[in-house]
Amino acid sequence: MKLSVRKLTPVFAAEITGVDLTRLDDATFAHIEDAFETYSVLAFPQQNLDDDAQIAFSRRFGELEKTQGHIANNFQVKHVSEISNLDPSGKLMAADDPRVLYRLGQRNWHSDSSFKRVPAKASLLHARKLPPDGGDTQFASLRAAYDALPAERKRLLEDKVAIHHYAYSRRNGGYELTNEEEDKRFPPVPQAMVRVNPVNGREALYVGSHASHIRGMPEDEGRALLKDLLEFATQEQFTYLHHWKVGDLVMYDNRAVLHRARPYKITEHPRILHRTTVMGEGPTVPA
Ligand SMILES: [Fe+2]
Repeated sequence: MKLSVRKLTPVFAAEITGVDLTRLDDATFAHIEDAFETYSVLAFPQQNLDDDAQIAFSRRFGELEKTQGHIANNFQVKHVSEISNLDPSGKLMAADDPRVLYRLGQRNWHSDSSFKRVPAKASLLHARKLPPDGGDTQFASLRAAYDALPAERKRLLEDKVAIHHYAYSRRNGGYELTNEEEDKRFPPVPQAMVRVNPVNGREALYVGSHASHIRGMPEDEGRALLKDLLEFATQEQFTYLHHWKVGDLVMYDNRAVLHRARPYKITEHPRILHRTTVMGEGPTVPA
């Protein structure tokens, strides 16, 4: 077996074939880690993984986040989060099920856990069951977006800090899904607006739907700038659309990409992805 890397767009994302993620020697893993830092999104087709194997591969990148017990995962706290539109008895959820509404929130561009003080480094999704069409995942390169920004905008953003807030993004998306307890668990947190990759020094614009306003700027002005930057960063030329096949493992760098789920007939066809999340190495700005 020989590992091969094929670029999926001119600016980011690559497909990796010729590997079995359940059996990786250190040299092959080093090659994958290097590709992850370079391409930000890696797609590995035809991986036969159970949860333990997915956890074992994910752990090689760092410590894992535990899922928050919330309505969309049946309040289970563990390392694998099941992204599913089936209820615990295996039936499709109804359109007015709060868990369906929760999934709709994931159709906004975001970076996983950016509403936490230490946001996620990487997320890994393994496709288990898919609808006949739709349900793709789209990614946008925040490095390509940053590189394309005019110089004066780069200067303006250099030391800027955005405030990310889970309740803000959920309410902004039109879903009143947070409660007081969640508000307490996820207070607003500061995040650098420009992030530098510690391995290769590449800079990325760090925005997304959890970003509410900008520290030191009038709220309206900051919000307008964030909206503008989000639109800029998600232009077609910076994106990659992944059409899932069962067995695909796709991992993405939350420090360098945004992603969103694309629509499908959520009340008609099962769609199940298993997700693991690698913790970030520290806060993006000092306290
Ligand atoms: Fe996500």
